[in-house]
Amino acid sequence: MTAKIINGSEIAKTITAEIRLEIELLKERHGIIPGLATILVGNDPASHVYVGNKVKMCNHLGIHSEHYSLPSNTSEEELLTLVERLNNTPSINGVLVQVPLPKHIHESSVIFSIKPEKDVDGFHPVSVGRMVVDDPSFLPCTPLGIQVLLERSGINTEGAEVVVVGRSNIVGKPVANNMLRKAHNATVTVCHSATRDIASHTKRADILISAIGKPHFITADMVKEGATVIDVGTNELGKTAEGKRILVGDVDFEAVKEKAGAITPVPGGVGPMTIIMLMSNTVKAAKIAHNLL
Ligand code: GUN
Repeated sequence: MTAKIINGSEIAKTITAEIRLEIELLKERHGIIPGLATILVGNDPASHVYVGNKVKMCNHLGIHSEHYSLPSNTSEEELLTLVERLNNTPSINGVLVQVPLPKHIHESSVIFSIKPEKDVDGFHPVSVGRMVVDDPSFLPCTPLGIQVLLERSGINTEGAEVVVVGRSNIVGKPVANNMLRKAHNATVTVCHSATRDIASHTKRADILISAIGKPHFITADMVKEGATVIDVGTNELGKTAEGKRILVGDVDFEAVKEKAGAITPVPGGVGPMTIIMLMSNTVKAAKIAHNLL
């Protein structure tokens, strides 16, 4: 069996067109322009690429974008002051602080300082808690992107064995909690670095989601015949002669695609979905702020 390739780039393109239209209508009918503020501290090259892509997407969609690039010696207090100002700026509906932050800044203090109504990343404990008690406000962008990829590929999660490899706050834990919600009704297992026999779990998965950041960690012998494999890994192997980043996922794609029923490629799978879900959350925040939701 050769797996169906889940084309995240295509699906994201379709959703981009849908959101673009929605923003046009918001502007025409209600005079509303959604606004997103992005904050990046320091000079991590990958973070610069990610935030740069978010700003570009805002511009493409007609979302008002304010980008703050701060030096790596920015104090926590200065950062908190900026977040507080953006919390109180009506033209800004979403505030995103790119992580990881430099070591001298407490990441959780900064994330806690974002107004939950503007937490379009879904990282604030209020957003996380609301997801866990199944009354979600903003779902985090990568878990939401995975949900939409599955829905638009016709993959049913009802009663399915979902096995998540990785327990980060950004992907592993929230994707597991999201799949557990009534809307998805999956049976969820989360594997991590102390899990004794990871393959014994992954081999049971109807839907296997890998988010650990280790190239080629998921091999064909760890996958059940016909399973859906979602690869969240974006591992940089180096650069091409032209300076383009060479990315590979967590999954041994060539071997696993011969066994899986459906699989996401890297690049072009989960990545493009994450960014468009951020835009979707920003539009949602703007609608809520104007009592349209
Ligand atoms: N770092 C890696 N992914 C993300 C993300 O989705 N949001 C933020 N704020 N930082 C990240």
